[in-house]
Amino acid sequence: MKETLEALLKEALEKIQAAEDGRALQEVRVSYLGKKGPITEVLRGMGKLSAEERPVVGQLANEVRDEIKAKLDKKEQELEEIRISKQLAEQKLDVTMPGRPVPQGSRHPLQAVVEELEDIFIGLGFSVEEGPEVETDYYNFEALNLPKDHPARDMQDSFYFTEELLLRTQTSPVQARTMEAHQGVGPVKIICPGRVFRRDNDDATHSHQFMQVEGLYIDHNVRMSDLRGILDTFVKRFFGEDREIRLRPSFFPFTEPSVEVDVSCGICGGKGCRVCKQSGWIEVLGAGMVHPKVLEMSGFDPNEYSGFAFGMGVERLAMLKYAIDDIRHFYTNDTRFLSQFKRV
Ligand code: DAH
Repeated sequence: MKETLEALLKEALEKIQAAEDGRALQEVRVSYLGKKGPITEVLRGMGKLSAEERPVVGQLANEVRDEIKAKLDKKEQELEEIRISKQLAEQKLDVTMPGRPVPQGSRHPLQAVVEELEDIFIGLGFSVEEGPEVETDYYNFEALNLPKDHPARDMQDSFYFTEELLLRTQTSPVQARTMEAHQGVGPVKIICPGRVFRRDNDDATHSHQFMQVEGLYIDHNVRMSDLRGILDTFVKRFFGEDREIRLRPSFFPFTEPSVEVDVSCGICGGKGCRVCKQSGWIEVLGAGMVHPKVLEMSGFDPNEYSGFAFGMGVERLAMLKYAIDDIRHFYTNDTRFLSQFKRV
């Protein structure tokens, strides 16, 4: 028995010594110390031994088992240390390396301009309204003093669904809709940004679909000087404090008097250059005092109320502000163009 146990110990220690990794070591552990291993077997067979032999063999078996176990644990630790130092040597982590950039989108420049316009006009006491893009002939034209055979309709040839239903050619119908909703009681002080549609041939400055921002202010004693003051403030906030405006007489069926509003050229400061065609001024929007007929048709008494309205093209404002030379850039969504507006 004693020899068998000593031989077992020797054999096990050799195998432990030879084990090259954790798995080989685990095999040795199972085969010598496991329930079906030789030591367990020896201990089980103790019943057959004499009373004198039993404690001697028992003690020896326990010693052999403890020694194998201790050597296994020690070797396991050694192997683990070797594994770690090898891993450390192989895998160098450079914490100074720059990370992979996470691609980030940006607001579309037109959206950014609309939001900027909203901020400016909300700051001036206006609220933001919306209206439908599919509009009736009544709101798009008739309620704005453009009866069925009015020649000014020709300037806004549109997409019709039926005789009475079309894609709106302007945001002005929102004027009539909002006035109706107020049922003849002022003040009404709104802007309305939105898409409009016209049958047009697309080129660098024209698109069959574009955006406008409409403005309407109706109250007691609203005067032309109020219009001028609001537009002057808007232009200075949007383009810069050094910019001036100029009003020129014009015609719109829904305003009387009507004006075309120019802003002083930002390139030459008003002296005259190629961008402003030597005039020193650039046209930015149409405006005027709301026509009494328009007030009346939408339920406001023109003897009690007066007001002004204006309408401007969002693309045009964006093109002037950011020196964009082709309106089509806004719609083709080339990321080389769009990514330039990250911080707008
Ligand atoms: N609706 C006009 C257009 O599309 C722009 C306009 C001009 C709007 C004068 C107005 C205004 O409210 O008063 O050409």
